[in-house]
Amino acid sequence: MPKKNILLLAGDGIGPEIMAEVKKVIDWFNTNKKLSLEISEELVGGASFDENGTPLTDQVLFKAMDSNAVLLAAVGGPKWDDVEFSKKPERALLRLRKEMRLFANLRPAICFEELVSASTLKPEIISGLDILIVRELTGGIYFGEPRGIEHIENGDRKGINTHVYTSKEIRRVAKVAFDLALKRNLKVTSADKSNVMEAGLLWKEEVQKLYDDSKEYKSIELSHMLADNLAMQLVRNPKQFDVIVTDNLFGDMLSDEAAMLTGSLGMLPSASLSEKDKHGRIRSMYEPCHGSAPDIAGKGIANPIAMILSFAMALKYSLDFDEESDLLNEVVKEVLKDGLRTADIMEKGKQQVSTSEMGDAIIAKLNNKI
Ligand code: IPM
Ligand code: MG
Repeated sequence: MPKKNILLLAGDGIGPEIMAEVKKVIDWFNTNKKLSLEISEELVGGASFDENGTPLTDQVLFKAMDSNAVLLAAVGGPKWDDVEFSKKPERALLRLRKEMRLFANLRPAICFEELVSASTLKPEIISGLDILIVRELTGGIYFGEPRGIEHIENGDRKGINTHVYTSKEIRRVAKVAFDLALKRNLKVTSADKSNVMEAGLLWKEEVQKLYDDSKEYKSIELSHMLADNLAMQLVRNPKQFDVIVTDNLFGDMLSDEAAMLTGSLGMLPSASLSEKDKHGRIRSMYEPCHGSAPDIAGKGIANPIAMILSFAMALKYSLDFDEESDLLNEVVKEVLKDGLRTADIMEKGKQQVSTSEMGDAIIAKLNNKI
């Protein structure tokens, strides 16, 4: 089997602890399913800043560009609060997204039946929930120019960011959402603020145009919702949604909200994908939706499941191992069914386990499948 390269960027906080569990899983697949996944590891975020004076070296960026998939755990923490803006750990993430052209960010929010009671919402609202947020990731206010902080008259200062989208950027991410809806429940909801922003109006018009112009999407039901209303609907009746497509900033916020519906941010993976190049290759990066959780770093209590499920997404979207991806998702469910819980999803009557015990339990389940 041809070798495939995976770059592991553990980053900061709980990053190294959860990445250690993914390494066990990758080793297992190499040994037992002969996947020939070659891993290498590099520094990113604050860890890279401490060592190299920059959150992302060019060498690591080039390596990421050349990989079949990048797995990134988390970056950032209070240790780097006073670092100059351009050197903050988060800049590494934003540069990787931009330079690798990872415009489509897929954030599934799935409620595991075993965790229904871990959510703050009533069980009937979230039981069976399975939605997918497609967030635009390389445009909008995150990257728009002009940006900066300027000194103006009377010692006053002005902070500037620009929310900007072209029709091409909107259409390509909408296409990803429509294509995914075809494989799911045939519903796309596009979120914008077309009542306030011109860029939001363009968003709505372009999504609608793409839909109207494409015969293959006729089976899909498209609706548009104002982003504030969608935020409200997500807690009122989240099961009305299937695929949600939205811009970079709204996607950032709505995906945290959607993630929490499911009980814990510690459960949810994400995939960031580029367009196909002329050889049909895509670039990709897989991350848990949660952050670096500095408050619990080093304690061995973090939940490694979002990171492990991010690897499951990589198996499916970048490495062409659908069956192995399904297997990994399956064993995670089994471990939860057995009542094992890390602290973030702990409930009365369940068995609390550490980060590495959770990883080991997943490996034990995999071993049962040989
Ligand atoms: C996310 C995070 C990032 C973002 C931060 C860490 C820069 O919140 O991936 O959702 O805002 O995109
Ligand atoms: Mg976020």
